[in-house]
Amino acid sequence: MNNLVRTLAAPWLLLLAVPAAAQTGPLASNTPAYVGSASCGDCHAPEADAWRGSMHALAWQTPSAASVAGDFGDTVFEHRGVATRFRREDDAYHIETEGGDGASHIYRVAGVAGIAPLQQYLVETEPGRLQAFDIAWDTAGRRWYHLYPDAELPAGDGLHWTGPYKNWNARCAECHATGYSKNYDPRARRYASTQAEIGVGCEACHGPGEAHREWAVSGSFDSARWPGLTRSGLTIGLAAGTADTEIQQCAGCHSRREAIADVSPIPGTPFHDAYRLALLSPGLYHADGTIRDEVYVYGSFLQSRMYARGVRCSDCHDPHRTALKAESNAVCLQCHSPAGNPRFPMLKPAAYDDPSHHFHAVGSEGAQCVSCHMIQRVYMGIDGRRDHSFRIPRPDLAAETGAPDACTDCHAGRDPAWAADEIARRFPASSRRGAHFSQGFAAAWRDPVAAGGELIAIAETADLPGIVRATAIGLLGGAPEPALAARIAALLSDQDPLVRETAAGALRALSPAEQVRRLAPLLGDPLLAVRMAAARAFIGIPAEILPPQLGSRVEAAMAEWRASMYAKADFPETQLAIGGAALALRNPAAAEQAFREAVRLDPQRVEAWVMIARILAATGDVDGARKAVEDGMAAIPDDPGLRAMRDEIRAATGN
Ligand code: HEC
Ligand code: HEC
Ligand code: HEC
Ligand code: HEC
Ligand code: HEC
Ligand code: HEC
Ligand code: HEC
Ligand code: HEC
Repeated sequence: MNNLVRTLAAPWLLLLAVPAAAQTGPLASNTPAYVGSASCGDCHAPEADAWRGSMHALAWQTPSAASVAGDFGDTVFEHRGVATRFRREDDAYHIETEGGDGASHIYRVAGVAGIAPLQQYLVETEPGRLQAFDIAWDTAGRRWYHLYPDAELPAGDGLHWTGPYKNWNARCAECHATGYSKNYDPRARRYASTQAEIGVGCEACHGPGEAHREWAVSGSFDSARWPGLTRSGLTIGLAAGTADTEIQQCAGCHSRREAIADVSPIPGTPFHDAYRLALLSPGLYHADGTIRDEVYVYGSFLQSRMYARGVRCSDCHDPHRTALKAESNAVCLQCHSPAGNPRFPMLKPAAYDDPSHHFHAVGSEGAQCVSCHMIQRVYMGIDGRRDHSFRIPRPDLAAETGAPDACTDCHAGRDPAWAADEIARRFPASSRRGAHFSQGFAAAWRDPVAAGGELIAIAETADLPGIVRATAIGLLGGAPEPALAARIAALLSDQDPLVRETAAGALRALSPAEQVRRLAPLLGDPLLAVRMAAARAFIGIPAEILPPQLGSRVEAAMAEWRASMYAKADFPETQLAIGGAALALRNPAAAEQAFREAVRLDPQRVEAWVMIARILAATGDVDGARKAVEDGMAAIPDDPGLRAMRDEIRAATGN
């Protein structure tokens, strides 16, 4: 092993031994402190009054008669043979149910999440660890119901409510709190999480307010102590800022993404310095980019023409009340009317709330703008949420792409061909029935290799949304043929960070020297998510070919990536990634340690059991390999991969 590989590999060995506090400390000392929403209201009564009863203010509450909506009057809910009892004693709310050990326990409710249409309860299963209970309260139906009614989730399963995926500290609190810090100690496997405030407070959007308050009270703030703030001492200028400043701030919580750190980014931090955004992948989105799984808002909004033209969230939503700025169609008519809107001179002035446009009875459900331009999907059993790509319905493409369309979403008894005919008859001269990226994506889902030409063409089309272009690159895979890889490499300097980030991971078919030459500039990219993608790509490159002057830059980017892994040491999927990286760096001991931590967190992670067995078998420890397979089969009895592995070991050893 040469020197560079050793310097890169060595820290993996220590990965779980490093105390959490060494990773991400509290706020840097030159950042103002959070002072709390209560103190803003003194001077900003209108905003404070609007915010007080909002979904943001109430996103996380302490249990009380005012906050708890569920029926805790000694009610019992039965689910798959487990009886759960909800009880109240004075101010204390209790849930008696099956714990992670399979036995019944009484848990005290420590927190309340959400207000409507459903509410969830948080219980402390051990000091500092909050778990989100998966029997929720339906506020309109006034009933308890299970969030995953069809899933078999016995105690000990990773997806049981006591498991890692339902852990509030790791999986939820960052979006339901202000100034959050997870503080996981991977050695003790404990949380000492803190937040400036539960719920989404003023400072979750406007940034910590200490310097602003000083400025408001005394007319100035200490700009030497707190550099880089706005004129009034805030970390972000939302009132006078650009659309993108605001959208990226909302997107931190309203997107399907992976946080890079384990503390809330200071408001004003660019999105791609804090998160890796999910692409439009199958399972999450339909082929045309409409929402499928729970992906929130940002990923679909990025695809819309309105985003491209500078429309922002607060054009339609009052960020303080979390309500629409106007009722139903009126919110759209702010811009789409015969009068138009002078802020957007490109708008075509026309009567949209009119049968000549929507050909349904005015005021009926079929005449709502959202019915045709924002399809709805239901999550958590009862919560309908709307797609924000504001697309033109394309039933004419349904047969080819399998994507839903607004018309037959509602006209359940009709087929898309009928809807396409009805539209074509009404808009005979439409320019909106041309080629669409969904055709390339649908082709790629069927056969990514055959669709390579279509995908690269999408990636290279500069006026398509960045998330669409990045998805096309992602669909090409990590190692498309060299001619395609060379064209992807040309996109490493693209303006869109998501395109750069994704392109960095798709160059494996180029020669190592060429990869180094192409990837080197990305190590200094202004955005962290892009630098980390470059660092990941360097893991696969033999260290001996790195020019010496690049070593320290690779190590710096690698260190950022490693820090982000440490920050998520409590995620089974992170341990799998660490294990994979350790193998690529030829460090089987660190890899085994990571895979073992993955199955400790979630015993159903088959791929980790298989890797443990393979590592042990490769080092000659056949008994250890056999034991790993047996342990894995105890957790997932019918898994074909493990059974194949067992047969492999039997064939090799004769027993
Ligand atoms: C002592 C009074 C005072 C307090 C406390 C106060 N502000 Fe202000 N704030 C002001 C004044 C004065 C302005 C300037 C108003 C103007 O420009 O018309 C202002 C402006 C603002 C603006 C708009 C200007 C900009 O730069 O974006 C925001 C946002 C804001 N405050 C947020 C907050 C938040 C959040 C808090 C609590 C952390 C807070 N304020 C606490 C007095 C105060
Ligand atoms: C710190 C995370 C966070 C930030 C930042 C944030 N939100 Fe939210 N938002 C939430 C959470 C969590 C909820 C849901 C709370 C609940 O249901 O209890 C929510 C709810 C909402 C709702 C109400 C949804 C509904 O179902 O009616 C709207 C609208 C909204 N946010 C818009 C915005 C906008 C616009 C911005 C940016 C200006 C923004 N949010 C910034 C976390 C955040
Ligand atoms: C990426 C940010 C984010 C994360 C992580 C997150 N939430 Fe939320 N949560 C939201 C937003 C945004 C809403 C508002 C829903 C919407 O879009 O209307 C919400 C709404 C809710 C609601 C209110 C009901 C509803 O559907 O509106 C509950 C309950 C809830 N979340 C629980 C959780 C739990 C439990 C977890 C962890 C397992 C979690 N959340 C993780 C952002 C988040
Ligand atoms: C979900 C994000 C979010 C939260 C939470 C939030 N704000 Fe705002 N605030 C915004 C945005 C976005 C704007 C600018 C757009 C607008 O005014 O609608 C704004 C504007 C303001 C302004 C400037 C208004 C003006 O007309 O110049 C003030 C003052 C303000 N907010 C204070 C507060 C206070 C005080 C709180 C808490 C009680 C708060 N905000 C909570 C997002 C938020
Ligand atoms: C603040 C102004 C504004 C508001 C409010 C607004 N829009 Fe738009 N909308 C625009 C602009 C600007 C465009 C782009 C026009 C262009 O480039 O030709 C647009 C374009 C569209 C398009 C065409 C999309 C495409 O792919 O060509 C649809 C559909 C649309 N809006 C629907 C809506 C709906 C539905 C609402 C209400 C929920 C709404 N808009 C509210 C400004 C607005
Ligand atoms: C019944 C379905 C339906 C409803 C309801 C509907 N639209 Fe549309 N809309 C369409 C279709 C179909 C097109 C594409 C027309 C074409 O092919 O030229 C379209 C196109 C558009 C466009 C882009 C075309 C252009 O003229 O620039 C905008 C903007 C738009 N709609 C806004 C609205 C608004 C605002 C509302 C609510 C007042 C609304 N729509 C209600 C079906 C609908
Ligand atoms: C052109 C108008 C428009 C814009 C821009 C817009 N929204 Fe919405 N949004 C809506 C409408 C309309 C709904 C549906 C409301 C309803 O069903 O009551 C909605 C729903 C929501 C909801 C509730 C859950 C859901 O998905 O239905 C959230 C949260 C939300 N928007 C957040 C945002 C954020 C964050 C942004 C900016 C990134 C944004 N919206 C931009 C119009 C808009
Ligand atoms: C949210 C539900 C909804 C959506 C979305 C919707 N419709 Fe309708 N549609 C209705 C209802 C309800 C009626 C009957 C009453 C009326 O005319 O408003 C109707 C009537 C019709 C009719 C006349 C009666 C018939 O069945 O022949 C046609 C044609 C039609 N819709 C086509 C469409 C097309 C095309 C789209 C998509 C661009 C569409 N609708 C979207 C609800 C919807």
